[in-house]
Amino acid sequence: MARLALVVATLAAACAQSAQTDRRYVTVDTDAVATAQAVSAAHDAHLEVLTARDGVALLAFDADDLEALSHAMHEKHGRCGGFMLHDSRADAEAALVAAPARTPIEYTLDRASQVERALAAVDSKRIRSTIGELSAMKNRYYLSESGAAASAWLRDRWRSFTARTDVTIELFDQGYPQKSVIMTIPGTERPDEVIVIGGHLDSIAPGGANSTAPGADDDASGIATLTEVARVLLQNDYRPARTIQFMAYAAEEVGLRGSQAIVRDYKKRNVNVIGALQLDMTNYQGSDADIWLINDHTSQAQNTFLVQLIERYVGATWSWDKCGYACSDHASWHRAGVPASMPFEARFKDSNKRIHTARDTLENSDGNATHAAKFARLGAAYAIELAKGDFARVATTPAPAPASDHGLTKLLLGLGLAGLGMYRLRRR
Ligand code: BES
Ligand code: ZN
Repeated sequence: MARLALVVATLAAACAQSAQTDRRYVTVDTDAVATAQAVSAAHDAHLEVLTARDGVALLAFDADDLEALSHAMHEKHGRCGGFMLHDSRADAEAALVAAPARTPIEYTLDRASQVERALAAVDSKRIRSTIGELSAMKNRYYLSESGAAASAWLRDRWRSFTARTDVTIELFDQGYPQKSVIMTIPGTERPDEVIVIGGHLDSIAPGGANSTAPGADDDASGIATLTEVARVLLQNDYRPARTIQFMAYAAEEVGLRGSQAIVRDYKKRNVNVIGALQLDMTNYQGSDADIWLINDHTSQAQNTFLVQLIERYVGATWSWDKCGYACSDHASWHRAGVPASMPFEARFKDSNKRIHTARDTLENSDGNATHAAKFARLGAAYAIELAKGDFARVATTPAPAPASDHGLTKLLLGLGLAGLGMYRLRRR
């Protein structure tokens, strides 16, 4: 029920934004077209199915009917929203165009020492405290002041990880108070090949900009998880061969709008993203296995790579499940032809039921963030084995004695204890 109320609030905001035009464009999975048509008939509404391709349909309708569509999607398909909202027909059609065929990515596991070094540094207490700080904000709604403040807060947190000037942090502005945050660690050998590790920064609950929406699991957990991945890479001055970008998307909860805007921009600028990992809800262990790989709207090849990483490095149990719809930002990348994956906290049906309410708190998920730490280990392994490269800071094993001391030790051993005494005597 809470999720249903939320949709109404969300859609009210969405409609208010486009008061000048009442035509709206959404894309839905084709299995939901009949539902949309039934809504249209029942409301004597102007809902049109414009086109359908590759399992996705483009609908146009009056803004007033969006609410009825949302209700029906929730009732019939268990989806809270369950569609992508587009700013214009051109944007919607661009999202439908089949992505060009890409050269398959070669997935290899040959960076064990670097991965193990990073994994040893993953600290669940830091993840817990980041979730605590994010969820202490009143809400992180994309239109609210505190939602805007969350972007600046995260930028500053990421900036504190390194003084390197080649590591940049930008706010991606699509006209909402809240901005997406993007941190880039440039690649040393293949800088044009980009790996994205993302989650959504916004939260939502009934009441919109005035709501109490801690979003501790959905999705402070994902942001805290990828923040810890960034920290363990940067603390030892990681230099990836390929470029890595950490992304905290704005406005996911209102139709994947932040990630769609970034994907649109990257398509326009021909940015070559070779893999995207989405971390959305990592800190509520609702099922028997630890990590659930979502196998719809994702890349099977990249998912298989994740299985290898889990088995070799993470030491967690895993299984497959589906959302059944475009449930998070991985779908924006997937639709653009980018290999995308979403490792998830539980079976879809066993996942945290308190999301989108004031009760999505750290106390109501894993208060020690040990569940989220498994996803941070997976994220760090993914980053290193896909981006390759190495740490520039040498491992802090006990420092070897200076060369002259080695010689001295040998000499002293040769001379025996008496000689040691004489040496000391002479040095004074
Ligand atoms: N984190 C959720 C997605 C989710 C919820 C996945 C429960 C698995 C189980 C995400 O923030 C969300 O709420 N997505 C919306 C859809 C989106 C297109 C607005 C949803 O699930 O309805
Ligand atoms: Zn959500």
